[in-house]
Amino acid sequence: MTKILVIDDDETIRDVLQLFLSKEGFEVTVAASAEEGLDILFSEAPDLLLVDMVMPGMGGMDILKVLNQKNINIPVIMITAFGTIESAVEAMKLGAYDYITKPLNLEALVITIKRAVDVSRLKKENLWLKRQLRQRYHFSGLIGDSPKMQKVYEMIEKIADTDSTVLITGESGTGKELVARTIHYSSSRAEGPFVPINCAAIPKDLLETELFGHEKGAFTGAFNTRIGRFELANNGTIFLDEISELAPSLQVKLLRVIQEREFERVGGVKTIKVNVRIIAATNQNLEKAVEEGRFREDLYYRLNVIPLPLPSLRERKEDIPLLINHFVKKFTKKLKRTPLNFPPEVMHCLMQYDWPGNVRELENLIERLMILVSGDKVSISDLPEKFHAFVNPETHYGTTSTSLYNSVEELPEEGITLNSIIENIEKKLILKALDKTGGNRSKAATLLGLNRTTLIEKMKKMGIDFPRPKKPSSI
Ligand SMILES: Nc1ncnc2c1ncn2[C@@H]1O[C@H](COP(=O)(O)OP(=O)(O)OP(=O)(O)O)[C@@H](O)[C@H]1O
Ligand SMILES: [Mg+2]
Repeated sequence: MTKILVIDDDETIRDVLQLFLSKEGFEVTVAASAEEGLDILFSEAPDLLLVDMVMPGMGGMDILKVLNQKNINIPVIMITAFGTIESAVEAMKLGAYDYITKPLNLEALVITIKRAVDVSRLKKENLWLKRQLRQRYHFSGLIGDSPKMQKVYEMIEKIADTDSTVLITGESGTGKELVARTIHYSSSRAEGPFVPINCAAIPKDLLETELFGHEKGAFTGAFNTRIGRFELANNGTIFLDEISELAPSLQVKLLRVIQEREFERVGGVKTIKVNVRIIAATNQNLEKAVEEGRFREDLYYRLNVIPLPLPSLRERKEDIPLLINHFVKKFTKKLKRTPLNFPPEVMHCLMQYDWPGNVRELENLIERLMILVSGDKVSISDLPEKFHAFVNPETHYGTTSTSLYNSVEELPEEGITLNSIIENIEKKLILKALDKTGGNRSKAATLLGLNRTTLIEKMKKMGIDFPRPKKPSSI
């Protein structure tokens, strides 16, 4: 039941309000002075205050000031005489929800109360949701505790609460957008909007109006004024993804926004000012683009105030098990299925692979396995073929041609490609040769009838990282 606290020094008004509002289904408490009212406020936590503007001693305005000081969020409706409407307006500036004038129109009052309570509830819910979102992105969405990721977290923490422009770089799928969101939701702008725009996904001639909006009649078909992403992002963050794809004319316009935080809509003359934080991202080498004259140098420096490079997944392979665990949990929930286990021999293959598509590629693979594997355990044959080359030689070793032949003999039902078998055998033999020669590449190559560079190339391609023989440390 909605609890209302009435604070008024006029006994008749207190009685009338208590009687009427109780009949309307509210729980009503009354107080004859501001001081008494504040006491009740703190002990009973009502949902709404109905406060007389003018009372002997502390008045309605004083109550609002106390609420503001103590950061108490509660809707307040002021009761005011006709002569004091001006001060009622002042009260609204101080945060009062609305005011009603004497003599009281009780029907209208009930409507105002209901609306105020609704709005306040929505506000609270909204705040709660935003806080949830903030917590979710407060690093919990970013998985990995390798030193390279620790560095990224430190950097995010340092820069989140500044307004500096950030340039996130990294290969495709390394988490650039996720990091941009994390920065936004860890910043003081968290309650403002996060507005992403992919500069490569929008046709060049539409990108300008998308970014800056347009005035009615700016071009054929512009029937209405439309606001762009920069205006939408006001008081928040704009994320300019794939920034290298920005056309030269837009590069100029963006430069001005970065410098002055102002622009005009397409076809407009009015200068629009915005308060936005800019985060840009690219998987291209922007310095090279500058050298080649495709990207303005001045814009590059303006964007690159805080460079934030993200590591590729192969530079932080130790995070792979954590990421797999995270995605298994995610898809267990999403697909409503039982979790999937990754036995050591499968994990070994996943750790050896180089992941050119980075975290996205890993995420896609896990999703695919969760859909396709019917049991609760993944086996090597469930993995795409490119992983078969990494089957652990420890568990699948054969030294003589007979044992190699034996391993081929078991042709699985669904078949197997010759290439993957050969690659597998090649890998086993290379490992064996390296093992025999204590990691000496030249000797191992001789054993295999290869030259050294061919062996090293093959090792690289197969992701074989075998320790070299130790050199005497005295040299
Ligand atoms: N460190 C991480 N922890 C958890 N998930 C991650 C991480 N990095 C990336 N992801 C996930 O991988 C996918 C790709 O990430 P994101 O879109 O942020 O990459 P990107 O660098 O913007 O890629 P692209 O250059 O292709 O746009 C997303 O689903 C994201 O949630
Ligand atoms: Mg992206």
